[in-house]
Amino acid sequence: MKFILNREIMETNESPSLHTLDFLRKNGIKGVKEGCHEGDCGACMVLVGELKDDKVIYKAINSCMLPLGKITGKHVVTIEGLNLEKLNPVQQAIVDEGGSQCGFCTPGFVVALMAYFMNENLINTDIITAIEGNICRCTGYKSILRAADSANRKIATLDYSKGRISALVSAEYLPSYFLEIPEMLKKIQIQPKLKKGTYIAGGTDLFVHRNIVIQDPVFLSELGFDKIWSDDNYIFVGAAADIESIRISNELNTLFDTASHLSNVSSLPIRQQATIGGNVVNASPIGDLTIYFLALDADIGLLLGEERRIIKLKDLFKGYKILDLEDGEILEWFRIKNEKRILSFEKVAKRMHMDIASVNSAFSMKYKDNKITEPHLSGGGIGPIPMYLEKTCQYLEDKEITADVVKEAARIADSEISPIDDVRGTARYKRLLLRQLIYAHFVKLVPELEDLL
Ligand SMILES: Cc1cc2nc3c(=O)[nH]c(=O)nc-3n(C[C@H](O)[C@H](O)[C@H](O)COP(=O)(O)OP(=O)(O)OC[C@H]3O[C@@H](n4cnc5c(N)ncnc54)[C@H](O)[C@@H]3O)c2cc1C
Ligand code: FES
Ligand code: FES
Repeated sequence: MKFILNREIMETNESPSLHTLDFLRKNGIKGVKEGCHEGDCGACMVLVGELKDDKVIYKAINSCMLPLGKITGKHVVTIEGLNLEKLNPVQQAIVDEGGSQCGFCTPGFVVALMAYFMNENLINTDIITAIEGNICRCTGYKSILRAADSANRKIATLDYSKGRISALVSAEYLPSYFLEIPEMLKKIQIQPKLKKGTYIAGGTDLFVHRNIVIQDPVFLSELGFDKIWSDDNYIFVGAAADIESIRISNELNTLFDTASHLSNVSSLPIRQQATIGGNVVNASPIGDLTIYFLALDADIGLLLGEERRIIKLKDLFKGYKILDLEDGEILEWFRIKNEKRILSFEKVAKRMHMDIASVNSAFSMKYKDNKITEPHLSGGGIGPIPMYLEKTCQYLEDKEITADVVKEAARIADSEISPIDDVRGTARYKRLLLRQLIYAHFVKLVPELEDLL
């Protein structure tokens, strides 16, 4: 495997499933810190730059969840690779605002903020989103936010006519070697091939396990399964598309409010790595993307060798962690109808970010002549599989939206589910949550219902 680590090309025979954090620290790069080793704290954050159309796109990624095989042909930047002779303006802002005490989390914050300034796709995102995956237990977030705002104000005045990286190098936010990286990356690109093995998409589910060794990893995002595209009839989402790309995709946001619906799925660094395919195939009953796409009545395209088949997403789940998938079969894409529908997504978790749901639910429908048509309701955390609530949907078809109809729909939904007591709540609490989430879907549409339910 070849990749660029800060200024130098590295070559290694280590296992492609070794966690990048462990590789870096073993090789003396101590600016990356090990906090949780579970993608929760941001202490291990690095920039990963990928060559796309002659440009390098940088993202902040948790190196504890990142297998080495996923950085092949890419540029990995740790805090050491960002350092200049003097502090850069982002580092200086953190010092000036008192944003660093023990300093354990500080490199991760600097890396996350630099990613925000380097990646033009994030320009319209609030700067707080850039650091939603970083935890600091001692300084207090206000000083860090002040530093972020102050750096943001300064950076806004730069001249970006020659591109962001060039502007940041000229203003001494980045060392000048960044300008040579595109040419260096071109020399180490290889064309990966699809073969049999253990499929790894984002790795945020598989690599939450420490010291996991996968003998035959196949990295799906590198194989072109990560595209999002549309034709007149359908929107297609490649199974290895990451959740952040889905969240901000033009195709989906033209039809729905996907950018805001999916904003509380994990945190930006995890969303940039985790994929929709992994969310579905790990078969968690509360996968947010699974619940979202169930309510859009998605089809899925499956590939086994040369054989292809298409099934409904709702028919994939056969029992707890049991899927209608042959050994070696790949989930290739999801597709939904390219048509406007009303769509609501609700999630209740103990924390706003970095937390999986206690219960989540999505609902989509068309609404014509005061009647509901083609309703699709899903719910997570209320049974052994992500649930498509078939009987409730049948009941809602062709109904007017009244308080009685919504109450009856919630009653039927309650009869379809089988939640259990666990760390996320008692079965009774989850039943109550689903009812409230169903009410919430309808109250968003008809606010007057709020007083009647
Ligand atoms: C800190 C943290 C926060 C999280 N927060 C959330 C959250 O808010 N909401 C949520 O839903 N989840 C959350 N998760 C869970 C996880 O990130 C998601 O489920 C994610 O979508 C998994 O995708 P992945 O690509 O990383 O999966 P991977 O780890 O790459 O793969 C998971 C499984 O799916 C298989 N697989 C992957 N893609 C395919 C494919 N195309 N075809 C066949 N098999 C495939 C793999 O072989 C593996 O068995 C969180 C995880 C962490 C670590
Ligand atoms: S060590 Fe905590 S996110 Fe990686
Ligand atoms: S400075 Fe101490 S945890 Fe962040």
